[in-house]
Amino acid sequence: MNRREFVKQSCALCISGGIIPVALASCQSTHYVNGMVEPNGISILTTEFNYIQKEKELTRQFIIVQNDKLEFPIYVYRFSDTEYSALWMKCSHQGAELQASGDHLQCPSHGSEFNNKGIVSNGPAERNLRSFQVSPIENKIVIDLRQS
Ligand code: FES
Repeated sequence: MNRREFVKQSCALCISGGIIPVALASCQSTHYVNGMVEPNGISILTTEFNYIQKEKELTRQFIIVQNDKLEFPIYVYRFSDTEYSALWMKCSHQGAELQASGDHLQCPSHGSEFNNKGIVSNGPAERNLRSFQVSPIENKIVIDLRQS
């Protein structure tokens, strides 16, 4: 099952009431963004973390950045207005694409899990995820793809 099928099936379960409210909250917070290509990486507007629900302004925990030029998406977790992590969604075990679930990432292939800083929390993966430097600049954040 790929990421899109997983999200579609998970949200279908949420809508039908088959999963507890915690899972419903994670469905609502998954937001995909097409990143803008920059000279040294990719950027997104900080407003992508904002959304309105029942007339309240809320902030997403994370978003997933995609672009045709990226082999894998990037999970961007927001700790505060000035602190983010950006993680390559490629499992460090055998390279499967990871699935984001709130403040952690899971691998559908063999069950490895990683926290929101890319640190392995459950094997069989032994190496942390590739991560990128994130710089908030005015109304956007820039993910530097030159190093890891
Ligand atoms: S490829 Fe991710 S745990 Fe094996």
